[in-house]
Amino acid sequence: MAKIIEGVSRTFSEFLLIPRLTRKAQTPELIDLSAPVGSDSSATGLRFRINVPIVSAAMQSVTDSNLAIALARQGGLGFIFGSQDIGSQAAMVRQVKSHKAGFVSSDTNTKVGETLRDVIGLMKKTGHSTVPVTSDGTSQGRLLGIITDQDFWQHEDDLNSPVESYMTKIENVIFGEEGLSLKEANSLLHMHKKNCLPVIDKEGNLKSLVFKKDYEDHMRHPNELLDSSKRLCVGAALNTRDYQERAPKLVEAGVDVLCFDSSDGLSEYQKEGLDWVRNRFGQDVVLGGGNIVSKEGFDYLVSGLGVDFVKVGIGGGSICITREQKGVGRGQASALLDVVARRDEHFKNTGIYVPICSDGGLSNDTQIVLALAMGADFVMMGRYFAMTDESPSAKTSINGQIYKSYWGEGTRRAQNWQRYSDSVDSGELLFEEGVDAYVPYVGGLSEVLATTLKKIKSTMINLGADDLIELKDNAVLTLVSEQSIVEAGTSSVFQFTRNSELEASTWGENR
Ligand code: IMP
Repeated sequence: MAKIIEGVSRTFSEFLLIPRLTRKAQTPELIDLSAPVGSDSSATGLRFRINVPIVSAAMQSVTDSNLAIALARQGGLGFIFGSQDIGSQAAMVRQVKSHKAGFVSSDTNTKVGETLRDVIGLMKKTGHSTVPVTSDGTSQGRLLGIITDQDFWQHEDDLNSPVESYMTKIENVIFGEEGLSLKEANSLLHMHKKNCLPVIDKEGNLKSLVFKKDYEDHMRHPNELLDSSKRLCVGAALNTRDYQERAPKLVEAGVDVLCFDSSDGLSEYQKEGLDWVRNRFGQDVVLGGGNIVSKEGFDYLVSGLGVDFVKVGIGGGSICITREQKGVGRGQASALLDVVARRDEHFKNTGIYVPICSDGGLSNDTQIVLALAMGADFVMMGRYFAMTDESPSAKTSINGQIYKSYWGEGTRRAQNWQRYSDSVDSGELLFEEGVDAYVPYVGGLSEVLATTLKKIKSTMINLGADDLIELKDNAVLTLVSEQSIVEAGTSSVFQFTRNSELEASTWGENR
């Protein structure tokens, strides 16, 4: 007969944290948000750590190399999506590993003969106001000059004039020579009071640009996640069908962390895959498995040759319809609490600490901190990053509001990589487990993440915690009634929105 688990399946929004003693010595700058990803003989996980406890989902609409670079620069880790051919996924990993912090490839270029009107169109399209003029209009052509929005007056100058009449010609451009260090590049910018320094090779071809604003950004975010050779770190997803070809190519490209990406990790397919990768690469690669929602799932995955971390969560993702379609899943808070309890027992019995990632369904910053307090070492998010500038999808304006598209890996759009049909031989996607949607555009990743991290630190101070281990140890949670959820928002007041429309406040998302 079927068993029924005692208690109901709970979500994060049903819990609140009870404040503990805040100490005067606590300040946000002193709080340590680093977290283990590699399993180890202690919860400090020295084998592989991330500097902030946040990773991005391996999804087409979330993590390409651009987003992975932006997130690693802030101390987190991006997982490059696996629903693409092996060569292109490995190329994305390579792009992250070869990213030279501070040196960017110019994505807005023009050539002699183009008009001011063309340049203005280009600036509008990319949002960049510094445009190299190269022999062939590409980012690697011979540099002939630079034009910026300070070089012309859009409403005064003749927009049909050629770009060469307005650009700063190469003989007057301050540039760096290929091979110079970032420090040297920044000193040139400083010495010549410039905002942008083109870097060229001996033949005069453009190689990269260095911006003053990136230097300032780096000073504000000194948390970059770097490997021992000072390259940015990156993760990538594997599937249970082609890991024997995919994993070696990703390792060759320099990937730091691999993770099987499946909506249901309690499967023999996945165990075989984990064992194969571990056998082949030993401890050189940090390896994750999942997703699971029960003690049984945890025991099964750790009984193999050794996963480093496990991902918890089925059916909670914002674009996920797995629970509706198949009737499987579990409230994310219950799933997490159950798996964390088993992990802690496992640690006590074996001395091996297995980090846990809470994956999906986090709809605001409060829920991130709840997941961490409940025992997750780090969280994985899709929607959160899909909303930022750096995600791969295009912006769309709907009724004057800007949105970005966001679709699940289990949609037809994410094509037939069959993440959601491990047990189906035909390889054909029989039904969808995700939706194709839009999410509001929120701006640059670094600003959005900075706000989130400030809030997490602020809650940690409320709980008297200096690091994430203390957060878990100090956490005392209370279940809330439906009525107290209503009370948690503003009550019986009206708020003015920015455009002065009167609207009743709600207790919805706070991001
Ligand atoms: P979000 O942060 O709530 O948007 O959830 C992201 C997570 O949803 C991912 O990390 C995956 O675990 C999961 N996911 C991605 N695509 C799908 C899908 O098509 N159906 C169900 N879950 C998905």
